[in-house]
Amino acid sequence: MPKRPHHASPSPRSTPPGPTRAPLPNEITPLLGNRTPLQFMRRYWQKKPLLIRQAFPGLAAPLPRDELFALADLDDVESRLITHFRDKWDMEHGPFAPDELPSVKKREWTLLVQGANLHDDRAHALMNQFRFIPDARLDDLMISYATDGGGVGPHFDSYDVFLLQVHGKRRWRIGKQRDLSLKPGLPLKVLQHFEPEEEWLLEPGDMLYLPPHVAHDGIAEGECMTASIGFRAPSEHELTAQFLYHLAERAGEAAEGARAGARYRDPAQEPVANPGALPQLLKERVGAILANIDWDEKDIAAFLGTYLSEPKANVVFDPPERILNEARFVERAKKTGVRLDRKAILLYDQKSYFVNGEAASLSSKLKKWLPELADSRHLEAKRFVTLTDDSTMTALLHEWYRAGWIQLGVWA
Ligand code: SIN
Ligand code: CO
Repeated sequence: MPKRPHHASPSPRSTPPGPTRAPLPNEITPLLGNRTPLQFMRRYWQKKPLLIRQAFPGLAAPLPRDELFALADLDDVESRLITHFRDKWDMEHGPFAPDELPSVKKREWTLLVQGANLHDDRAHALMNQFRFIPDARLDDLMISYATDGGGVGPHFDSYDVFLLQVHGKRRWRIGKQRDLSLKPGLPLKVLQHFEPEEEWLLEPGDMLYLPPHVAHDGIAEGECMTASIGFRAPSEHELTAQFLYHLAERAGEAAEGARAGARYRDPAQEPVANPGALPQLLKERVGAILANIDWDEKDIAAFLGTYLSEPKANVVFDPPERILNEARFVERAKKTGVRLDRKAILLYDQKSYFVNGEAASLSSKLKKWLPELADSRHLEAKRFVTLTDDSTMTALLHEWYRAGWIQLGVWA
Protein backbone atom coordinates (compact mmCIF):
# COMPACT_ATOMS: atom_id res chain seq x y z
CA MET A 1 0.00 0.00 0.00
CA PRO A 2 1.49 3.42 -0.87
CA LYS A 3 2.50 5.60 2.04
CA ARG A 4 0.42 8.70 2.39
CA PRO A 5 2.57 11.71 3.25
CA HIS A 6 1.33 13.63 6.24
CA HIS A 7 1.98 17.35 6.41
CA ALA A 8 1.23 18.70 9.85
CA SER A 9 0.82 22.44 10.11
CA PRO A 10 1.78 23.94 13.45
CA SER A 11 -1.18 25.55 15.19
CA PRO A 12 -0.32 28.39 17.58
CA ARG A 13 -3.09 27.56 20.07
CA SER A 14 -1.48 24.28 21.13
CA THR A 15 2.24 25.02 20.70
CA PRO A 16 4.06 24.02 23.90
CA PRO A 17 4.83 27.19 25.85
CA GLY A 18 8.32 28.23 26.81
CA PRO A 19 11.61 27.61 25.03
CA THR A 20 11.68 24.58 22.75
CA ARG A 21 15.35 24.02 23.49
CA ALA A 22 16.51 21.76 26.27
CA PRO A 23 17.85 23.26 29.51
CA LEU A 24 21.65 23.44 29.79
CA PRO A 25 23.33 21.05 32.26
CA ASN A 26 23.53 23.70 35.00
CA GLU A 27 20.29 25.52 34.31
CA ILE A 28 17.55 25.33 36.97
CA THR A 29 14.35 24.37 35.21
CA PRO A 30 10.69 23.76 36.13
CA LEU A 31 10.87 20.82 33.71
CA LEU A 32 12.81 18.94 36.40
CA GLY A 33 11.04 20.43 39.44
CA ASN A 34 13.38 23.42 39.75
CA ARG A 35 16.45 21.26 39.58
CA THR A 36 19.25 21.37 37.04
CA PRO A 37 19.68 18.52 34.54
CA LEU A 38 22.93 17.75 36.36
CA GLN A 39 21.10 17.26 39.68
CA PHE A 40 18.38 15.22 38.02
CA MET A 41 20.79 12.91 36.21
CA ARG A 42 22.89 12.34 39.32
CA ARG A 43 20.03 11.75 41.76
CA TYR A 44 17.19 10.24 39.74
CA TRP A 45 18.13 9.09 36.23
CA GLN A 46 18.11 5.27 36.13
CA LYS A 47 17.85 5.35 39.93
CA LYS A 48 14.49 6.41 41.37
CA PRO A 49 11.09 7.82 40.39
CA LEU A 50 10.37 11.54 40.56
CA LEU A 51 7.02 13.31 40.47
CA ILE A 52 7.28 16.83 39.03
CA ARG A 53 4.26 19.07 39.49
CA GLN A 54 3.89 21.66 36.73
CA ALA A 55 6.96 20.61 34.76
CA PHE A 56 5.24 22.50 31.92
CA PRO A 57 3.13 25.23 33.51
CA GLY A 58 -0.02 25.87 31.47
CA LEU A 59 0.66 23.04 29.02
CA ALA A 60 -1.95 22.25 26.37
CA ALA A 61 -2.03 19.00 24.42
CA PRO A 62 0.52 19.18 21.57
CA LEU A 63 -2.22 17.99 19.26
CA PRO A 64 -5.98 17.73 19.69
CA ARG A 65 -7.77 14.37 19.90
CA ASP A 66 -8.94 14.38 16.28
CA GLU A 67 -5.43 15.06 14.97
CA LEU A 68 -4.09 12.19 17.08
CA PHE A 69 -6.79 9.92 15.64
CA ALA A 70 -5.80 11.11 12.13
CA LEU A 71 -2.16 10.09 12.84
CA ALA A 72 -3.34 6.63 13.93
CA ASP A 73 -4.97 6.28 10.49
CA LEU A 74 -1.62 6.61 8.62
CA ASP A 75 0.28 3.60 7.31
CA ASP A 76 3.67 4.85 8.45
CA VAL A 77 2.56 5.51 12.05
CA GLU A 78 2.74 2.76 14.66
CA SER A 79 -0.42 2.69 16.77
CA ARG A 80 -2.18 0.28 19.15
CA LEU A 81 -5.68 0.14 20.56
CA ILE A 82 -6.01 -1.38 24.03
CA THR A 83 -9.45 -2.14 25.40
CA HIS A 84 -10.55 -3.38 28.80
CA PHE A 85 -14.18 -4.11 28.07
CA ARG A 86 -16.05 -6.44 30.45
CA ASP A 87 -12.86 -6.96 32.45
CA LYS A 88 -11.00 -8.47 29.46
CA TRP A 89 -7.71 -7.03 28.09
CA ASP A 90 -7.40 -6.84 24.31
CA MET A 91 -4.92 -5.22 21.92
CA GLU A 92 -5.02 -4.46 18.21
CA HIS A 93 -2.41 -2.86 15.95
CA GLY A 94 -3.23 0.10 13.67
CA PRO A 95 -3.68 1.82 11.34
CA PHE A 96 -7.22 2.66 12.45
CA ALA A 97 -9.74 4.60 10.38
CA PRO A 98 -11.66 6.95 12.70
CA ASP A 99 -14.75 4.69 12.50
CA GLU A 100 -12.67 1.69 13.60
CA LEU A 101 -12.05 3.25 17.01
CA PRO A 102 -14.61 2.75 19.81
CA SER A 103 -16.88 5.69 20.63
CA VAL A 104 -15.24 8.35 22.80
CA LYS A 105 -18.31 7.94 25.04
CA LYS A 106 -17.37 4.34 25.79
CA ARG A 107 -15.27 3.77 28.93
CA GLU A 108 -11.98 1.91 29.36
CA TRP A 109 -10.12 2.05 26.08
CA THR A 110 -6.90 3.71 25.05
CA LEU A 111 -5.15 4.52 21.79
CA LEU A 112 -1.33 4.66 21.78
CA VAL A 113 0.41 6.54 18.97
CA GLN A 114 4.14 5.86 18.82
CA GLY A 115 6.68 8.30 17.30
CA ALA A 116 4.38 11.36 17.34
CA ASN A 117 7.60 13.47 17.24
CA LEU A 118 8.33 12.12 13.75
CA HIS A 119 5.03 13.33 12.34
CA ASP A 120 4.13 16.52 14.15
CA ASP A 121 6.18 19.67 14.81
CA ARG A 122 4.54 20.34 18.20
CA ALA A 123 5.25 16.82 19.46
CA HIS A 124 8.80 17.15 18.07
CA ALA A 125 9.28 20.46 19.90
CA LEU A 126 8.05 18.91 23.15
CA MET A 127 10.50 16.03 22.83
CA ASN A 128 13.38 18.41 22.06
CA GLN A 129 13.10 19.79 25.59
CA PHE A 130 14.50 16.44 26.80
CA ARG A 131 17.68 16.76 24.74
CA PHE A 132 19.74 17.29 27.89
CA ILE A 133 19.93 13.52 27.44
CA PRO A 134 21.94 12.40 24.35
CA ASP A 135 20.00 11.79 21.11
CA ALA A 136 21.66 8.37 21.01
CA ARG A 137 19.52 7.46 24.06
CA LEU A 138 16.26 9.22 23.16
CA ASP A 139 13.73 7.01 21.46
CA ASP A 140 10.44 8.72 20.76
CA LEU A 141 7.45 10.60 22.05
CA MET A 142 4.34 8.46 22.30
CA ILE A 143 0.93 10.04 22.86
CA SER A 144 -1.87 8.07 24.45
CA TYR A 145 -5.54 8.98 24.47
CA ALA A 146 -7.83 7.29 27.00
CA THR A 147 -11.48 7.44 27.91
CA ASP A 148 -12.57 7.35 31.56
CA GLY A 149 -11.09 4.32 33.34
CA GLY A 150 -8.76 3.62 30.38
CA GLY A 151 -5.14 2.53 30.65
CA VAL A 152 -2.79 -0.24 29.62
CA GLY A 153 -2.97 -2.15 32.90
CA PRO A 154 -0.33 -2.46 35.63
CA HIS A 155 3.02 -3.27 34.00
CA PHE A 156 6.69 -2.39 33.95
CA ASP A 157 8.89 -1.11 31.12
CA SER A 158 12.53 -1.95 30.40
CA TYR A 159 13.28 1.69 29.60
CA ASP A 160 13.29 5.03 31.38
CA VAL A 161 10.20 7.11 30.70
CA PHE A 162 8.87 10.59 31.41
CA LEU A 163 5.05 10.40 31.64
CA LEU A 164 3.78 13.88 30.93
CA GLN A 165 0.08 14.63 31.42
CA VAL A 166 -0.97 16.79 28.49
CA HIS A 167 -4.77 16.77 28.78
CA GLY A 168 -7.27 15.74 31.47
CA LYS A 169 -6.36 13.76 34.58
CA ARG A 170 -4.71 10.42 35.15
CA ARG A 171 -4.17 8.59 38.43
CA TRP A 172 -0.76 6.93 38.59
CA ARG A 173 0.09 4.24 41.10
CA ILE A 174 3.64 2.89 41.27
CA GLY A 175 5.51 0.22 43.20
CA LYS A 176 9.10 -1.02 43.30
CA GLN A 177 8.10 -4.66 43.59
CA ARG A 178 10.48 -7.51 42.81
CA ASP A 179 7.78 -9.85 41.53
CA LEU A 180 7.51 -8.87 37.88
CA SER A 181 5.63 -11.99 36.75
CA LEU A 182 3.02 -11.36 34.07
CA LYS A 183 -0.54 -12.61 33.63
CA PRO A 184 -0.30 -15.48 31.14
CA GLY A 185 -2.15 -15.62 27.84
CA LEU A 186 -2.78 -11.87 27.39
CA PRO A 187 -1.91 -9.89 24.23
CA LEU A 188 -0.17 -7.26 26.40
CA LYS A 189 2.13 -7.22 29.43
CA VAL A 190 -0.02 -7.03 32.60
CA LEU A 191 1.48 -7.77 36.03
CA GLN A 192 0.07 -10.75 37.87
CA HIS A 193 0.40 -9.15 41.32
CA PHE A 194 0.58 -5.36 41.33
CA GLU A 195 1.57 -3.91 44.71
CA PRO A 196 1.31 -0.11 44.47
CA GLU A 197 3.16 1.89 47.14
CA GLU A 198 2.55 5.46 45.99
CA GLU A 199 -0.27 7.20 44.18
CA TRP A 200 -0.75 10.60 42.55
CA LEU A 201 -3.38 12.31 40.42
CA LEU A 202 -1.62 14.08 37.53
CA GLU A 203 -3.08 17.15 35.87
CA PRO A 204 -1.97 18.85 32.64
CA GLY A 205 1.69 19.92 32.92
CA ASP A 206 2.48 17.40 35.71
CA MET A 207 5.07 14.74 34.93
CA LEU A 208 6.26 11.46 36.43
CA TYR A 209 9.75 10.12 35.71
CA LEU A 210 10.22 6.37 36.09
CA PRO A 211 13.46 4.42 35.77
CA PRO A 212 13.27 0.95 34.17
CA HIS A 213 11.40 -1.86 35.96
CA VAL A 214 9.28 0.25 38.32
CA ALA A 215 5.75 -1.22 38.25
CA HIS A 216 3.13 1.36 37.26
CA ASP A 217 -0.52 1.74 36.37
CA GLY A 218 -2.10 4.92 35.02
CA ILE A 219 -5.88 5.15 34.92
CA ALA A 220 -7.67 8.00 33.17
CA GLU A 221 -10.12 10.01 35.29
CA GLY A 222 -12.35 11.30 32.54
CA GLU A 223 -10.95 11.66 29.02
CA CYS A 224 -7.19 12.21 29.07
CA MET A 225 -4.01 12.36 27.03
CA THR A 226 -0.49 11.49 28.20
CA ALA A 227 2.81 11.97 26.36
CA SER A 228 5.53 9.41 27.12
CA ILE A 229 9.08 10.44 26.34
CA GLY A 230 10.81 7.08 25.98
CA PHE A 231 14.44 6.04 25.72
CA ARG A 232 16.25 3.29 23.95
CA ALA A 233 18.44 0.84 25.79
CA PRO A 234 19.29 -2.10 23.53
CA SER A 235 19.86 -5.37 25.35
CA GLU A 236 23.46 -6.58 25.63
CA HIS A 237 22.44 -9.49 23.43
CA GLU A 238 21.10 -7.11 20.74
CA LEU A 239 24.26 -4.96 20.89
CA THR A 240 26.52 -7.99 20.59
CA ALA A 241 24.54 -9.51 17.73
CA GLN A 242 24.37 -6.20 15.84
CA PHE A 243 28.08 -5.50 16.36
CA LEU A 244 29.03 -8.95 15.07
CA TYR A 245 26.78 -8.34 12.07
CA HIS A 246 28.55 -4.99 11.50
CA LEU A 247 31.96 -6.72 11.68
CA ALA A 248 30.79 -9.38 9.23
CA GLU A 249 29.74 -6.69 6.76
CA ARG A 250 33.10 -4.95 7.17
CA ALA A 251 34.88 -8.28 6.63
CA GLY A 252 32.74 -8.84 3.52
CA GLU A 253 33.87 -5.49 2.12
CA ALA A 254 37.52 -6.26 2.95
CA ALA A 255 37.21 -9.68 1.30
CA GLU A 256 36.40 -7.98 -1.96
CA GLY A 257 39.93 -6.62 -1.81
CA ALA A 258 43.09 -8.50 -0.98
CA ARG A 259 41.60 -11.72 0.37
CA ALA A 260 38.93 -12.04 -2.32
CA GLY A 261 37.78 -15.63 -2.70
CA ALA A 262 39.84 -16.94 0.24
CA ARG A 263 38.33 -20.25 1.39
CA TYR A 264 38.88 -23.03 3.81
CA ARG A 265 41.74 -25.30 2.63
CA ASP A 266 43.04 -28.63 3.94
CA PRO A 267 45.85 -29.97 1.78
CA ALA A 268 47.05 -31.98 4.84
CA GLN A 269 43.76 -33.89 5.36
CA GLU A 270 44.34 -37.64 5.63
CA PRO A 271 41.85 -40.37 4.70
CA VAL A 272 39.42 -41.35 7.48
CA ALA A 273 37.62 -44.53 8.56
CA ASN A 274 35.09 -42.57 10.67
CA PRO A 275 33.65 -39.98 8.24
CA GLY A 276 31.03 -38.77 10.70
CA ALA A 277 33.65 -37.31 13.08
CA LEU A 278 34.37 -33.57 12.93
CA PRO A 279 38.07 -33.33 11.93
CA GLN A 280 40.43 -31.83 14.51
CA LEU A 281 42.28 -30.09 11.67
CA LEU A 282 39.08 -28.33 10.60
CA LYS A 283 38.48 -27.01 14.14
CA GLU A 284 42.03 -25.73 14.39
CA ARG A 285 42.06 -24.05 11.00
CA VAL A 286 38.68 -22.38 11.48
CA GLY A 287 39.83 -21.31 14.94
CA ALA A 288 42.84 -19.64 13.27
CA ILE A 289 40.59 -17.85 10.74
CA LEU A 290 38.32 -16.55 13.53
CA ALA A 291 41.30 -15.47 15.62
CA ASN A 292 42.07 -12.99 12.81
CA ILE A 293 38.91 -11.02 13.58
CA ASP A 294 39.91 -7.87 15.39
CA TRP A 295 38.31 -4.55 16.13
CA ASP A 296 39.18 -1.32 17.85
CA GLU A 297 37.41 1.78 19.13
CA LYS A 298 36.90 3.02 15.55
CA ASP A 299 34.82 -0.06 14.75
CA ILE A 300 32.75 0.40 17.90
CA ALA A 301 32.10 4.06 16.99
CA ALA A 302 31.23 3.17 13.38
CA PHE A 303 28.87 0.46 14.58
CA LEU A 304 27.16 2.64 17.20
CA GLY A 305 26.85 5.65 14.91
CA THR A 306 25.29 3.74 12.03
CA TYR A 307 23.12 1.52 14.23
CA LEU A 308 21.76 4.36 16.38
CA SER A 309 21.18 6.78 13.50
CA GLU A 310 19.32 4.20 11.43
CA PRO A 311 15.70 5.36 11.04
CA LYS A 312 13.03 2.95 12.27
CA ALA A 313 11.69 0.50 9.71
CA ASN A 314 8.47 2.45 9.09
CA VAL A 315 10.16 5.84 8.53
CA VAL A 316 9.71 7.32 5.06
CA PHE A 317 11.27 10.68 4.14
CA ASP A 318 9.24 13.09 2.04
CA PRO A 319 11.48 14.79 -0.56
CA PRO A 320 10.25 18.26 -1.59
CA GLU A 321 7.54 18.23 -4.24
CA ARG A 322 9.40 20.74 -6.42
CA ILE A 323 13.11 20.28 -6.00
CA LEU A 324 15.17 23.48 -6.27
CA ASN A 325 18.54 23.20 -7.96
CA GLU A 326 21.61 23.84 -5.81
CA ALA A 327 21.93 27.54 -6.66
CA ARG A 328 18.24 28.21 -5.94
CA PHE A 329 18.38 26.15 -2.77
CA VAL A 330 21.35 28.17 -1.52
CA GLU A 331 19.64 31.43 -2.42
CA ARG A 332 16.53 30.43 -0.41
CA ALA A 333 18.48 28.97 2.52
CA LYS A 334 20.43 32.25 2.85
CA LYS A 335 17.08 33.88 3.68
CA THR A 336 15.39 31.13 5.67
CA GLY A 337 18.16 29.00 7.17
CA VAL A 338 17.81 25.21 7.17
CA ARG A 339 16.64 22.62 9.67
CA LEU A 340 16.96 18.88 9.99
CA ASP A 341 13.76 17.08 9.14
CA ARG A 342 11.89 15.73 12.20
CA LYS A 343 12.74 12.19 11.14
CA ALA A 344 16.44 12.74 10.42
CA ILE A 345 19.04 11.48 12.90
CA LEU A 346 22.46 13.13 12.79
CA LEU A 347 25.15 12.03 15.26
CA TYR A 348 28.87 12.72 15.34
CA ASP A 349 32.08 12.08 17.24
CA GLN A 350 35.60 13.47 16.88
CA LYS A 351 36.32 11.70 13.61
CA SER A 352 33.05 10.79 11.91
CA TYR A 353 29.45 11.72 11.42
CA PHE A 354 26.48 9.45 11.02
CA VAL A 355 23.32 10.43 9.25
CA ASN A 356 20.31 8.13 8.92
CA GLY A 357 22.42 4.98 9.15
CA GLU A 358 25.32 6.15 6.96
CA ALA A 359 28.83 6.95 8.18
CA ALA A 360 31.33 9.44 6.74
CA SER A 361 34.47 11.11 7.94
CA LEU A 362 34.19 14.45 9.73
CA SER A 363 36.72 16.54 7.79
CA SER A 364 38.00 19.78 9.29
CA LYS A 365 35.71 21.69 6.88
CA LEU A 366 32.66 19.78 8.11
CA LYS A 367 33.69 20.28 11.74
CA LYS A 368 32.91 23.99 11.32
CA TRP A 369 29.18 23.46 10.98
CA LEU A 370 28.04 19.85 11.16
CA PRO A 371 28.22 19.35 14.95
CA GLU A 372 26.32 22.65 15.30
CA LEU A 373 23.59 21.40 12.95
CA ALA A 374 23.41 18.07 14.82
CA ASP A 375 23.15 19.77 18.23
CA SER A 376 20.68 22.55 17.42
CA ARG A 377 19.01 20.73 14.50
CA HIS A 378 19.14 23.92 12.45
CA LEU A 379 21.42 26.55 10.93
CA GLU A 380 20.05 30.07 11.12
CA ALA A 381 19.96 32.13 7.92
CA LYS A 382 22.83 34.39 9.07
CA ARG A 383 24.96 31.41 9.98
CA PHE A 384 24.18 29.74 6.66
CA VAL A 385 25.35 32.86 4.80
CA THR A 386 28.72 32.83 6.61
CA LEU A 387 29.25 29.20 5.61
CA THR A 388 28.36 29.38 1.92
CA ASP A 389 31.97 29.99 0.75
CA ASP A 390 32.44 26.31 1.31
CA SER A 391 31.00 24.54 -1.72
CA THR A 392 31.27 21.09 -0.07
CA MET A 393 28.84 22.34 2.59
CA THR A 394 26.24 23.63 0.13
CA ALA A 395 26.57 20.50 -2.03
CA LEU A 396 26.10 18.16 0.94
CA LEU A 397 23.14 20.10 2.34
CA HIS A 398 21.55 20.23 -1.10
CA GLU A 399 21.90 16.45 -1.35
CA TRP A 400 20.22 16.06 2.06
CA TYR A 401 17.49 18.51 1.03
CA ARG A 402 16.76 16.45 -2.09
CA ALA A 403 16.47 13.34 0.08
CA GLY A 404 14.01 15.10 2.43
CA TRP A 405 16.52 15.07 5.34
CA ILE A 406 16.83 18.88 5.40
CA GLN A 407 14.05 21.46 5.17
CA LEU A 408 14.17 25.18 4.44
CA GLY A 409 13.41 27.35 7.50
CA VAL A 410 14.53 26.99 11.13
CA TRP A 411 12.93 25.65 14.29
CA ALA A 412 10.87 28.25 16.14
C1 SIN B 1 -0.09 5.31 28.69
O1 SIN B 1 0.26 6.43 28.28
O2 SIN B 1 -1.27 5.01 28.82
C2 SIN B 1 0.89 4.26 29.06
C3 SIN B 1 2.27 4.70 29.20
C4 SIN B 1 3.05 3.75 30.07
O3 SIN B 1 2.59 3.28 31.07
O4 SIN B 1 4.22 3.44 29.75
CO1 CO C 1 4.68 1.98 31.03
